[in-house]
Amino acid sequence: MKAQSITNFIKFKQNNQKFATVTCYDSSFSQIIEQAEIPLILIGDSLGMVVQGKSNTLSVTVDDISYHTKCVAATNHKSLLMADMPFMSYQNPKDACFNAAKLIQSGAHMVKLEGGIWLKDTISMLTERAIPVCAHIGLTPQSVNIFGGFKIQGKTNEDADRIINEALTLQNAGAQLLVIECVPENLATEVTKLLDIPVIGIGAGKNTDGQILVLHDILGISSGYIPKFAQNFLERENSILDALKSYKKSVELGLFPSKEHIF
Ligand code: KIV
Ligand code: NA
Repeated sequence: MKAQSITNFIKFKQNNQKFATVTCYDSSFSQIIEQAEIPLILIGDSLGMVVQGKSNTLSVTVDDISYHTKCVAATNHKSLLMADMPFMSYQNPKDACFNAAKLIQSGAHMVKLEGGIWLKDTISMLTERAIPVCAHIGLTPQSVNIFGGFKIQGKTNEDADRIINEALTLQNAGAQLLVIECVPENLATEVTKLLDIPVIGIGAGKNTDGQILVLHDILGISSGYIPKFAQNFLERENSILDALKSYKKSVELGLFPSKEHIF
């Protein structure tokens, strides 16, 4: 695999080529992910749950993401590295720039932000100042207390319309990737068709341009509970490297997600 850049993913979309994405938090796994030739890594604030043992992502700090980004970047020079901006680190454009810069200087190539229309100006400001942005809509886990739990989003026509509007607005604001989480498959399909930028789904069906899973879910080491949309790829393989290759291949061939993973 050659070193990946944002333009690769736009080509993937144009060529109808599905791509796999995985979260990663440390240098040991980062190296294996490079060997598996997975093109995109998220240093996700899910580390609050799978690394720090919390029940949600709200306590994760910019320093936490910065530290784990440095760990991941140390051993992976090929995958594109995307870092999550944690809860309350981007509540206005100025704070967003300051905190995103820290993550870029830690080795991230782009940052990901959760939210809808209110992020328009922030995304414009970041991209105008040379920080590429991935937007994240649908089930945005930092809003868990507003949603009243980790619940599927976009089920009513009104919510679906709002999510479509968010996707278009954030693309127009300058977002270069979009993550859509836990929405009905037909909504994710529509968003994927409407947008020019690559759309990465999790719990959003099989028709998005890319898929993303939490590394620990792929390896079946998520403290007892595997979400409906995830799959343990280590179950049928003999090594972590083979499990990651199997995940990548299953995404590229359109075999993952299959019916049992889809809302
Ligand atoms: O933090 C994370 O792992 C994420 C993905 C699940 C999309 O945001
Ligand atoms: Na996240």
